[in-house]
Amino acid sequence: MDIKKLAQESIAAKEFAYTPYSHFRVGAALLTKDGGIYRGCNIENAAYTPTNCAERTAFFKAVSEGKKEFTAIAINGDANDYLYPCGVCRQVMAEFCDPETFQIILAVSKDKYDVFTLRELFPLGFGPADLA
Ligand code: THU
Repeated sequence: MDIKKLAQESIAAKEFAYTPYSHFRVGAALLTKDGGIYRGCNIENAAYTPTNCAERTAFFKAVSEGKKEFTAIAINGDANDYLYPCGVCRQVMAEFCDPETFQIILAVSKDKYDVFTLRELFPLGFGPADLA
């Protein structure tokens, strides 16, 4: 996996962020096991709660097109530091991704990033196996 490329994709994904309320743009780039990349941006709403994070936009785009196996996601926000995914997005990741291998790349730039597994950012979470 080319981490720098995925980081760059997450930065590019911010272009279409719809953020009239927070003015805080976030971009995400989700890598499928077969090498495809789905971009997502945050999409806000006047009623606030319907707001969708960039990460979930990327997941929902991919799943709605039949993709359910993922390797990594890169995330970039209008912050000067690492942007960690919110709890709801971590829960969505846990639905589809192997916690031990799925990589979450926090990209400040294409050259400055940190990498965590889903397990590291979402320990002891509730997931599909718990319903079995
Ligand atoms: N946001 C994301 O898109 N991803 C995150 O991981 C954190 C927060 C968005 C939601 C909202 O549009 C804005 O950032 C401020 O919370």
